[in-house]
Amino acid sequence: MKQIEIIIANNDHLGYAQEICDVISDSAKVRGTGIAKRTPEYIQTKMNNGNAIIALCKGKFAGFCYIEVWGHEKYVAHSGLIVHPDFRNQGLAKKIKEFTFNYSLQKYPHSKVFGITTGLAVMKINSDLGYKPVTFSELTDDPKFWAGCKTCTNYDILTAKDHKMCLCTGMLYDPANGIKKKEKWYDKKVLKRLKKIKQTMLTSNKQLLLWKK
Ligand SMILES: CC(C)(COP(=O)(O)OP(=O)(O)OC[C@H]1O[C@@H](n2cnc3c(N)ncnc32)[C@H](O)[C@@H]1OP(=O)(O)O)[C@@H](O)C(=O)NCCC(=O)NCCS
Repeated sequence: MKQIEIIIANNDHLGYAQEICDVISDSAKVRGTGIAKRTPEYIQTKMNNGNAIIALCKGKFAGFCYIEVWGHEKYVAHSGLIVHPDFRNQGLAKKIKEFTFNYSLQKYPHSKVFGITTGLAVMKINSDLGYKPVTFSELTDDPKFWAGCKTCTNYDILTAKDHKMCLCTGMLYDPANGIKKKEKWYDKKVLKRLKKIKQTMLTSNKQLLLWKK
């Protein structure tokens, strides 16, 4: 891998916020999947609070992830993982996630860590860190978290399912359970197939709902 540094972002990095948002939004368009939109101001708040991780290669933006705190620190979520296209498939997302995970466990040792994702890469990385797939009922019920999904193209599915499920898979790491890292629960083929089945089921429901209207 090229010489890349992964660091806790601070106010020296505020100038990267717009590029981060642009890469997140462009990647979502290419993938054709839904994504919660972020504003540069929101990203900058995370940087100022010491809740953002940035990867830089000689000053060039390479990757990013941030931490959100929910339910008075009962939960933390690691969101907005993005790797610039020039730096993909070199293990950078894995390194950023590991860094964020370890930093978050130090900063919020009693918080359950969760994420929601449609991305296979993220599911694999999370699994390697010891996350387990869970239903949305195991995640925070803070309406502010779920309000973040409003800008996602799949939001009508989430609301139609009464916030109980959507195309994203919920994944949770509970430090109280002392889950062993690297304890793989999945098989790549099974994971891919499950994702496909879920997307087919929920997308066809979506069509049905649209047809009913
Ligand atoms: C998803 C993303 C963060 C991966 O970044 P990356 O640096 O290329 O990922 P890594 O090289 O660290 O790969 C980690 C693992 O995921 C796998 N992987 C990477 N991209 C993948 C893809 N598109 N589909 C399936 N698996 C993928 C890798 O093979 C690797 O698995 P392994 O540990 O079994 O070898 C990057 O492609 C990206 O920014 N995409 C757009 C934004 C996005 O989808 N973010 C996630 C939102 S939920």
